[in-house]
Amino acid sequence: MSKKRALITGVNGQDGSYLAEELLAKDYEVFGLVRRVGLEAPEHRLERLLPLLDRIHLQPASLESYAGIFNAVAKIRPDECYHLAAASFVSYEFDDEFSTLTTNINGTHYLLASLKDLVPQCRFYFAGTSEMFGSAAEMPQNEQTRFRPRSIYGISKVAGFELVRNYRERYGMHASSGILFNHESPRRGHEFVTRKITSGVARILAEQATELRLGNLDAERDWGFAKEYVDAMWRMLQQPVPDDYVIATGKLNSVRDFVRIAFQCAGLDWEKYVVTDPNFFRSGESVALCGDAAKARNVLGWEPKKQFEEMIREMVETDCLAMGVTLPAAAR
Ligand code: GDD
Repeated sequence: MSKKRALITGVNGQDGSYLAEELLAKDYEVFGLVRRVGLEAPEHRLERLLPLLDRIHLQPASLESYAGIFNAVAKIRPDECYHLAAASFVSYEFDDEFSTLTTNINGTHYLLASLKDLVPQCRFYFAGTSEMFGSAAEMPQNEQTRFRPRSIYGISKVAGFELVRNYRERYGMHASSGILFNHESPRRGHEFVTRKITSGVARILAEQATELRLGNLDAERDWGFAKEYVDAMWRMLQQPVPDDYVIATGKLNSVRDFVRIAFQCAGLDWEKYVVTDPNFFRSGESVALCGDAAKARNVLGWEPKKQFEEMIREMVETDCLAMGVTLPAAAR
């Protein structure tokens, strides 16, 4: 029997690289959509994929071009498509609004429309996010909670979510959305707070920095481990019927909790190094986002396993290793 073909957009991101590994281990033929510039400087732009490059196929295409997406789908003819690519940093900068909205919405639409016309039986996964809940009226949030996005990024994801639902209902496509809460790992981008903290700890330990500047330490998030979250994506596409699922740990921690544990792993007292900086504060962050993943547990048999402290330690250790410093014996 021929191998199943999976197409991943955003394959060079944190989630894309973990998913590519999981699908290769399950004997899929894996195709990744990347920007053409990525292929020109793979050692920088495709860093997370370097160990996999000889086992996956990379297809250059821009999410901003319907023709490019259509041609890529026509060539690959995937059995499963995981749409992870997006402008994903939750920015409140006015300048970013237009491109975030157009790229995220059009990219999803181009992909769905191409699949419908070329390979309508292809199973589709859309990377939704807890940011769609925004200032939700209830906590924890589940699949029934009303979306009230408060960022342009959140709005773009709600639009993508509705496109997916619409293609599922109108054209009978097997299209599902995961509503994923924050998920982290040593592969997380440096612009996100968790990686900023763990790499900051490593730099301080390596004596390359003397402080770490952060925004709101009281902000709370439901943080899980990325590698487990991509497994939930795969499980969604193996279901007989498509549906939407919240993926979360159901546990809230503050940025301060994360900071304290990360510095503790390095044997450092965080209060000596962390400086709060108004430049990193976001306005309008009132409601804590905490997910209820009961449906994923019951239907997909999915549950989070890695403990918060364990994940932070792994991230700090990886960043220290990259800086050439070892954690002090007492903190190990
Ligand atoms: N980035 C950043 N930098 N965030 C800070 C800082 C800082 O210096 N200080 C405090 N924070 C707070 C933010 O205000 C926010 O409340 C929290 O830390 C987490 O911020 P991020 O790590 O940037 O993630 P996010 O929650 O905005 O968004 C991430 O998770 C979403 C849900 O899965 C992204 O991955 C989104 O793409 C994703 O949809």
